[in-house]
Amino acid sequence: MGTLDGAALDTIFRNARSFNAWTDKPVSDEMLKELYDLMKMGPTSANCSPARIVFVRSDEAKEKLMPALLPQNQGKTKEAPACAIIGYDLEFFEKIPELFPHNPDARNWFAGNDPLIQETAFRNSSLQGAYFMIAARSLGLDCGPMSGFVPDMVNEAFFPDGKVKANFICNIGYGDASREMFERSPRLAFDDACSIV
Ligand SMILES: Cc1cc2nc3c(=O)[nH]c(=O)nc-3n(C[C@H](O)[C@H](O)[C@H](O)COP(=O)(O)O)c2cc1C
Repeated sequence: MGTLDGAALDTIFRNARSFNAWTDKPVSDEMLKELYDLMKMGPTSANCSPARIVFVRSDEAKEKLMPALLPQNQGKTKEAPACAIIGYDLEFFEKIPELFPHNPDARNWFAGNDPLIQETAFRNSSLQGAYFMIAARSLGLDCGPMSGFVPDMVNEAFFPDGKVKANFICNIGYGDASREMFERSPRLAFDDACSIV
């Protein structure tokens, strides 16, 4: 495997920001499919792949989402070309025979064990949400992740069958850095966050 050059690392990490303002350049169905086809390759435990994504893009769907958002997240989400709801499927284990064919019995590690289902679905969908943002940035998109919403309201509006729960939401599109952009906040230094033992 080769390493990425500095420009690619700038795009994905060093220059990538969380955006609060958006240009009106749209995001096509093809782009959303390309994004999913990249992010889906990121690893999950037993390849369980619990993330389920709803791309909220139409005016009608945006209207449905708005009341569930904290006020400070409403304007930017209205403006963004699309908002992805990253959810997790509490019945993810039913797909394990398909997704983990060398050990289809792995389904039974989870079936009936609600705490393990919740922990596994949340952990792995959070990872997949991170893969989503890395994939989006790799494709030249910008991201605006948010947890400022009322989960029960999003769940009722977009996952009414109760099997999928919202983890976090993420605006995507082409960010407008000339508006609503804060200075980059510091990050913890290696010695403050890591140890080598
Ligand atoms: C899971 C998650 C939830 C967040 N929730 C919100 C939110 O509700 N509203 C908001 O304006 N920003 C939210 N943010 C944005 C963060 O504040 C931002 O990513 C962080 O300050 C780093 O900014 P930077 O990427 O521009 O360096 C969230 C980010 C993440 C990853």
